[in-house]
Amino acid sequence: MGSSSSPSLLLVFLLLLPSFIIAASPFPYHSNKIHIPLAGVKPSGNTLGESKRYEGSSDLVNLRYHMGPVLSSSIKLYLIWYGRWAPSQQSTIRDFLLSISDSSSPSPSVSEWWSTVSLYADQTGANVTRSLTIGGESSNLSLSRGTSLTRLSIQQVISDSIRSGLPADHRNGVYLVLTAAGVDVQDFCRAVCGFHYFTFPSMVGHTLPYAWIGYSARQCPDVCAYPFAIPAYMGRATTAMRPPNGDVGVDGMVSVIAHELAELSTNPLVNAWYAGDDPTSPTEIADLCEGVYGSGGGGGYTGQVASDGAGRQFNVNGRKGRKFLIQWVWSPVLRACAGPNAVN
Ligand SMILES: *[C@@H]1O[C@H](CO)[C@@H](O)[C@H](O)[C@H]1NC(C)=O
Ligand SMILES: *[C@@H]1O[C@H](CO)[C@@H](O)[C@H](O)[C@H]1NC(C)=O
Repeated sequence: MGSSSSPSLLLVFLLLLPSFIIAASPFPYHSNKIHIPLAGVKPSGNTLGESKRYEGSSDLVNLRYHMGPVLSSSIKLYLIWYGRWAPSQQSTIRDFLLSISDSSSPSPSVSEWWSTVSLYADQTGANVTRSLTIGGESSNLSLSRGTSLTRLSIQQVISDSIRSGLPADHRNGVYLVLTAAGVDVQDFCRAVCGFHYFTFPSMVGHTLPYAWIGYSARQCPDVCAYPFAIPAYMGRATTAMRPPNGDVGVDGMVSVIAHELAELSTNPLVNAWYAGDDPTSPTEIADLCEGVYGSGGGGGYTGQVASDGAGRQFNVNGRKGRKFLIQWVWSPVLRACAGPNAVN
């Protein structure tokens, strides 16, 4: 955390100490746990037999429903741009988000990818919604909460935005805090690339589902923008892929956003769909498929993905001719990782 030795900052640090302790406790924050690829080599030969379509298929995965709600009402996303973003970066991210409900994109599409997420239902029989729109946006170039955020100060950023006019939409709202290059977040790059949770009434005035995702291109692309950057230890066994929208950081974020939205929708209050016995570190539907983007994926190999005329890799199409590379998610029907670009 902050290593500044300025006396006033030290005082602030001491005043914040209780929240640091809370933040360090094993709270049920979801983290997009960093996936360590085992080896950068494509498996040779067809060791996967007939079932290439069903990556990671396993009876050992005990994904269970814990009686809580899923996000079944149409989702309104509120985007909070924290720090300086280029308009082109923002439009790539907006196009991805708006592609989730856009069934007119050519197959394999982002909306087909989301159809696996909407297979999850809650005890009332309500499925995860297929409708996502952008309800509003706010930006703060003045970095009101500094450039080193804790998990709790992300909630303060949401609270600031609501005080400045973003609606507190407790019917349909999902808040996405997107931190720009140069903003450090607790555990960013070391243990997480993004996380989702819900806000506390004491901090924000309401319980609102939210996710944070950071721009990693300057700080740790090999960790959070894989496979557009490759960790050094993977050496020459593999080469980085070319990002479909030309920005390693944004294209890397898109997959983390996809990951967090899939999990947030199926486990918004951390009491619905997850595997494992410990609700303080749930293994959710995208955690189960991290690093898998296509058929044959797993163990450090992304799986089969497509390439455009310029050699940029992608696995789904979105609106306005956009292409994205996003990880697969666990299907409760196939009991395996699934995505629309699966090959037979
Ligand atoms: C809704 O969820 C149920 C239970 O998982 C599933 O069988 C059904 O196919 C889902 N419906 C849609 C439209 O995805
Ligand atoms: C931006 O930051 C300032 C403080 O620097 C704060 O007063 C304001 O509410 C913030 N605006 C938004 C939209 O978050």
